[in-house]
Amino acid sequence: MTQRKIIIDADTGIDDAFAILYGLKSEKADIVGITTVFGNISVELATENTLRILKLAGRENEIPVSRGASKPISRELQGYSTHVHGQNGIGEVELPLSSQRPIEEAADDFILRMADELNGELVLVTLGRLTNVALALRKDPRLAGKIKHLYVMGGAVQAPGNVTPVAEANIWGDPEAAELVVRSGMPITLVGLDVTMKTLLHQSQLDSLKRTCKPENRGIVDFIDGMMRFYFGFYREFNGFRDYAPMHDPLALLIALEPGIVRTQTMHLSVECTGELCVGMTVADLRRKPRVGTPVQVCVEVQAAQAVELLLAAFD
Ligand code: BDR
Ligand code: CA
Repeated sequence: MTQRKIIIDADTGIDDAFAILYGLKSEKADIVGITTVFGNISVELATENTLRILKLAGRENEIPVSRGASKPISRELQGYSTHVHGQNGIGEVELPLSSQRPIEEAADDFILRMADELNGELVLVTLGRLTNVALALRKDPRLAGKIKHLYVMGGAVQAPGNVTPVAEANIWGDPEAAELVVRSGMPITLVGLDVTMKTLLHQSQLDSLKRTCKPENRGIVDFIDGMMRFYFGFYREFNGFRDYAPMHDPLALLIALEPGIVRTQTMHLSVECTGELCVGMTVADLRRKPRVGTPVQVCVEVQAAQAVELLLAAFD
């Protein structure tokens, strides 16, 4: 089987951690590196969580981890989402320390170098703000033509936002970076709230996974179960969801490996960077002859139940 060569870029909170573990377990992925970014938590904590997750998965010192941006490209940091992900970003579950340290090379340089070395084969999956990719594009705009595909967890095109009425967190947290990346012409699939809010994991599914999983996955499954309890708590309080939550970041990684699980539609997309009410909105020009924006594949439908089954099967 030919594996896709993937860099995951993450602000390693709860759903990022799930996505990373899924990527590490999938036979269809060769995770060639993980870059980190501020967002759910600080970039330092995101980096530390990533290193510990690699150890949990038995991949300590095998996959390079590169630290990235600590703030947006052109605006002030707006704070973190510890109410969603916990003070430590992983639902207050404690993971053992790793002996691995991040590489010296910063995330933007690492992405640029890997794009060259992999000669058109590099797939990027971003699970946080697009700051690292934007910084890399600023250094070398030719990056847009060297990436095989960029899967972005972010945006809300025809669905409500989750930070403001119209903006999703990863785009809202650095709209200028998102706009720069969209405009670059890089081949992009946008995995937004339009599909992630339909892809729901229930506690009962984790309970059954705990009963059936292979002994070698026991530690990972217990960790996921622990983090998800915190996450379900947030979704219960803020959305009224009873013991279930959307799989934002895991779905983005899944789509990179199983593109048939979604239906996409080409839309001319722009990111709103000014204004009071709409900053961070992903605006699609749906007119018959679009005049604004850059063509992007937007996920519009997902086979949600099958997606969740595929995600869980990786740990069974
Ligand atoms: C996105 O925001 C973060 O909280 C999650 O990790 C996910 O990447 C969902 O809007
Ligand atoms: Ca994330």
